[in-house]
Amino acid sequence: MNTWRDLCDDARRSLAAAGIESAEVEARWMLEEVSGYEPAELFRNGADRPPERAVARLTSMVERRVAGEPVQYVLGHWSFRRLDLLVDRRVLIPRPETEIVAEIALEEAVRLGATRGKRSSWAATDTDYYLADLGTGSGALALALVDELPRAQVWATDVSEDALAVARANLAGAGTAAARVRLAVGSWFDALPVWLRGQLRLVVSNPPYVANSEIVSLPPEVAGHEPLEALVSGPTGLEAIERVVVGGAEWLEPSGAVVCEIAPHQAADAVGLALDSGYEQAFVRRDLAGRDRVLVARLGVGSSRWPTSSTSTQCSSDSVTEQPR
Ligand SMILES: C[S@@+](CC[C@H](N)C(=O)[O-])C[C@H]1O[C@@H](n2cnc3c(N)ncnc32)[C@H](O)[C@@H]1O
Repeated sequence: MNTWRDLCDDARRSLAAAGIESAEVEARWMLEEVSGYEPAELFRNGADRPPERAVARLTSMVERRVAGEPVQYVLGHWSFRRLDLLVDRRVLIPRPETEIVAEIALEEAVRLGATRGKRSSWAATDTDYYLADLGTGSGALALALVDELPRAQVWATDVSEDALAVARANLAGAGTAAARVRLAVGSWFDALPVWLRGQLRLVVSNPPYVANSEIVSLPPEVAGHEPLEALVSGPTGLEAIERVVVGGAEWLEPSGAVVCEIAPHQAADAVGLALDSGYEQAFVRRDLAGRDRVLVARLGVGSSRWPTSSTSTQCSSDSVTEQPR
């Protein structure tokens, strides 16, 4: 093995031999990681000889991947919307469906009067409403919100100190907007200061929603490497969603809303739970794969703008309607 190109070929062959379908692209990602090159630079410098430590690092990455570790942990970072987040075994790997949760949360914030704008340099103290991201993990949702809502302050909580350490590192690398994220440890709303009760405009969460009995059906790459407490909720799978929805009714402003990721089969239960908890409107929106994925529960409906065609089940206190596609 003499050149970057040889190293890449070798990595690709090892990954492919281990049955990894995307061996080609993963080998390139790993090469970019150990070389520090952009893709075009890697191509241009492909005939150069890599330093020993890059070879050693790549060998270790390939071994970890071949042993079944998710490529995101092997690389040590992963993208979420416009962010590049550090990820390791202490946190769930941010998923594409959670990017939709962020988008829907941003839309709800705008519906509730927030101004949306990209990558603002607004000062940390210049905020005028509060949001919460409960079970923040890597900080993905909290950072996506402050990234686009220049006047929001987001309370990002987790029961796991380990997860919050990763979130803290991500805040440090996310620029000035991250100064508007406050981290707090504790179980769901218990992590928040009491003065926030009744003051939250929006509660966003991607809580654990796998039932105990479903653990066996999780892919080994997930069950064997990602933190189980980030995935598994309890006997029904609805326990954490219930904590978020029921707590939201106490902690939101009178017109506030909860935006919460759910599993597709939980849609009807989640909507029922929200309506039983006193929310005026509750419905579920779909992810990009067309699966019911995001519960939106509005406590009081100031301005009622029903969502667009990605909506599936819509319910208000006495109706359930299937939205035409
Ligand atoms: C599905 S992960 C979501 C992580 C991140 N928000 C994301 O979307 O990538 C669920 C998160 O909830 C946290 N969690 C589990 N039980 C909790 C509890 N009782 N209170 C607060 N957070 C909890 C886990 O530690 C984990 O970080």
